Amino acid sequence: MSAQEVDRDKIREQLLAEIARADDLEVLEDVRVASLGRNGTITSLMKSVGQLEPQERKEAGRIFNSLKQEITAALANKQEQLKALQLSARLASETVDITLPVRQDPAGTIHPISQTIDEMVTIFAQMGFVVADGPHIESDFNNFTALNIPPEHPARQEHDTFYLPEKEDGSRLVLRTHTSPVQIRTMVSQSPPIRIIVPGRTFRADYDATHSPMFHQIEGLVIDEETHMGHLKGCLIDFCRNFFDVDDLPVRFRPSYFPFTEPSAEMDIGCSRDSGGLKIGRQGNSGAGDWLEILGCGMVNPRVLQNCNIDPQRYQGFAFGLGIERAAMLKYGIPDLRTFFESDLRWLRHYGFSALDMPGAVGA
Ligand code: DAH
Repeated sequence: MSAQEVDRDKIREQLLAEIARADDLEVLEDVRVASLGRNGTITSLMKSVGQLEPQERKEAGRIFNSLKQEITAALANKQEQLKALQLSARLASETVDITLPVRQDPAGTIHPISQTIDEMVTIFAQMGFVVADGPHIESDFNNFTALNIPPEHPARQEHDTFYLPEKEDGSRLVLRTHTSPVQIRTMVSQSPPIRIIVPGRTFRADYDATHSPMFHQIEGLVIDEETHMGHLKGCLIDFCRNFFDVDDLPVRFRPSYFPFTEPSAEMDIGCSRDSGGLKIGRQGNSGAGDWLEILGCGMVNPRVLQNCNIDPQRYQGFAFGLGIERAAMLKYGIPDLRTFFESDLRWLRHYGFSALDMPGAVGA
């Protein structure tokens, strides 16, 4: 046996024993450094090859290289084993106790606007509506003209529109004044049947206890071949009774005017006002019964269908729109609309919702 073979066998035996003994990853790492590190035993053996006589070098190199390979493999093998052990120990110690009560995290709440949108979308989703959306910056065409509000129409003045600077061709973009332009976007890009619901932000230059320059609306649109006013009424009555969670909620439809619907209506819900404030629901016999306007609606004006290249001889439908802040104020008794957007933490804690509150659903 050559001197190198003797060295190899001795070091090999010693290292394999140390590797076998190592019972955690740190100890194993020490063994690796002591053998294969810069000043490790194997590294020194490899370096010593250079000092040997030329005829001995090749054989010594082969011997030490195979030692290096064997030890490297043994280290890797042991490392795998230790990691697997470590993982099973962690899995055993870090069990989740699913019987623990839910932690009430005081850090944040769901804003009443988000909660209200979730509730509304949940109710409409169960009626087969899908959510659609559009940009806040809209073309004049989508926001007005296509909705049968031509340039000189008085309805344009009522909208207190924020206009963007005029473009070179004289056209102006607007901050959308309602969610209705998403009706147009949907009708020009999809063919009927259409059943969409559009919650989103809208903008008008107005500011007081019941108006904010940025507010939210939810729009609905149904286009099909046999849709009539009965569908509109059934859908909206169901929605309001579910949303306000009052089974026998009194409702009424009053004739109204919107350029994009014909006929148009406004829907009122029953409420009572007394010393305790406003209460949604059946009107008592006390004579305190009253009505509260909740939304605008109507059968889609055939002109609007035409503007979107939908054949009004074949298709009809209904549309509706309502203010989300107003609905939230009524449902949750929030007196001033401006407070929604003041980001006052005390207000948010008081009126906000837990992330675990489920939005109410039909039949729930
Ligand atoms: N866009 C109307 C508004 O902002 C609300 C509205 C009324 C929408 C009637 C509709 C509708 O879709 O049919 O005042």
